[in-house]
Amino acid sequence: MKITIIGAGYVGLVSGVCFADFGHDVVCVEKDLSKVEMLSRGEVPIYEPGLDVLLNENLDSGRIKFTQNLSEGLDCSDAVFIAVGTPTRHGDGHADLTYVYQTAEEIAPLMQDNLVVIIKSTVPVGTNRKVADLLKQRRPEIKFHSASNPEFLREGSAIEDFMRPDRVIIGVEDQFAEDVLRGIYRPLNLRETPIFATDLETAEIIKYAANAFLATKITFINQIADLCEKVGGDVQQVAKGMGMDGRIGAQFLHAGPGYGGSCFPKDTTALARSGREAGAVQSIVETVISVNEARKASMADKIIAACGGSVEGKHIAVLGVTFKPNTDDMRDAPSLIIIPHLQKAGASITVCDPQGEKEGGALLPDVKWVIDPYDAAKGADAVAIITEWNAFRGLDLERLKSKMSAPIIIDLRNIYNIEEMVDAGIQYYSIGKRNDHI
Ligand code: UDX
Repeated sequence: MKITIIGAGYVGLVSGVCFADFGHDVVCVEKDLSKVEMLSRGEVPIYEPGLDVLLNENLDSGRIKFTQNLSEGLDCSDAVFIAVGTPTRHGDGHADLTYVYQTAEEIAPLMQDNLVVIIKSTVPVGTNRKVADLLKQRRPEIKFHSASNPEFLREGSAIEDFMRPDRVIIGVEDQFAEDVLRGIYRPLNLRETPIFATDLETAEIIKYAANAFLATKITFINQIADLCEKVGGDVQQVAKGMGMDGRIGAQFLHAGPGYGGSCFPKDTTALARSGREAGAVQSIVETVISVNEARKASMADKIIAACGGSVEGKHIAVLGVTFKPNTDDMRDAPSLIIIPHLQKAGASITVCDPQGEKEGGALLPDVKWVIDPYDAAKGADAVAIITEWNAFRGLDLERLKSKMSAPIIIDLRNIYNIEEMVDAGIQYYSIGKRNDHI
C-alpha cells in the first residue's frame, strides 16, 4: 500500500520506517527542511536503538522517502497517518492540538476519494470525530474514511514494540477503513498479533487509560517502597511476589525516583483534564500526578539525608540523567528536579550519561559533564544513580570507592544489592529497603 506519514518525530519516524519495512511504500512529510534533508541522507535526528539501520535499509530499497511537500506526499496515497506532536498546553494541562488541526486543514484540499485519514498522535477523546467533521465540512463531496490508531511505543525499544506489539488498536467508522488498516498491519498476522477494532472514542480512551494505568502502577509500587523503608521489607521482593499473580503482572513494578518521559506526564495530565471537563473526575489519576511530582523532589532529600543532612560545599556525582536508559530524551526526567534541588542546597554536580548531554546540556546549567563514571566519582562526597543505563550496572565498586572522598552511594534504581556494597565498605542507600546496615 501507499502510506503517508505526517510528522517525522519519535512516533512518525519509527512508524514510517517500520511500515516501509513491512513492504509498504511510505512518504514521510515533515515541515522541518533540515530534518527532511538529514533523514534523506540516512541520518537519524533522535537516539533510538536500531532506527538508523532500519532507515537506511528502507531508503536503499526505495520504500521510504522524506519530503516537505504535502501534495507530493499525499499523491495516490491509500492512507495518511497524522503523527504530529500533541504536547501539554502550558497553563491548563490540555493536550495542545494546534498541529493536529493545522494538518487537517492542509490535508483537506488534497484529499481524494477513499483516502483513510488516521490519527496516530495521542489525542483527547472526541478529537478524531472533530477532525472528521472538519474534513467533511471542507470537502463535502469527497468520500473519505476516519480512523484512530494510537501507538504504544516505548522510547529505547520503539522498533521492537512496533514489530512485536501485544495488540494493534484501531478505531474505525466503517468496514473500508478497517480493511485498509488490517491490510497495513497484515505482516503482523505472522505472529498472530491481535488487531482490535473498535470505535473512534474507545480507541482514543484505550490509549490514555493504558498510559495512565501504567503510571498508576509505577506510582503504587513507589509508595509501597516508602512503606518498606519505614517498616522493613524489600520492595523488589514485594514486586516479585505481587507480579506472580497473573492478574497483576510483573512489569512496571520497578520502584524508582518517579516516572518521566514524553508520554506519561502529558497523557495523565490530559486525561485528568478531560475527566474534569466531562464531569467524570479522574481522581486516582490526579493523585498519581501529584504523588509522582512530589516524589522527584523527595529523592533529592534522600540524597541530602544520605550525606548527613547537608550537601553544602559537597560534590556529588550523578550517574544517569535521561528519563530512562537507551534514550536521549530528557522530558520530565526526575534529574531535572533532583539536580537543581541539590545545587540549591549547596552541592556541586558532575554528571555522566551516555546520551544525556545533547539535551541535558541546556537543561542542567552549572554541572560538569564527563563520559566515564569513574571520572565522575573523582573527589565525590556521594554518587547518586538516577538512570539505570547498562554502563552503570557492572561498576568495579572498589575502583569507584577509591576515587571518592566519601564512600556513599544512593541508588535510585536498585541496580546493586546491599551485600556487595557492604563487602566493598560502601554506605549504600537504595529504594524500598531499610538502611539498617548503615
Ligand atoms: C510509555 C509507555 O510505556 C508506552 O506504551 C507509550 O506509548 C509511551 O509512554 P515511555 O515513556 O517511552 O513509554 O517509557 P516507559 O518504559 O514506559 O517508562 C516511562 C517512565 O516510567 C520512565 O521514567 C521509567 O523510568 C519509569 N518506569 C517504568 C518506572 O519507574 N518503573 C517501571 O517499572 C517502568
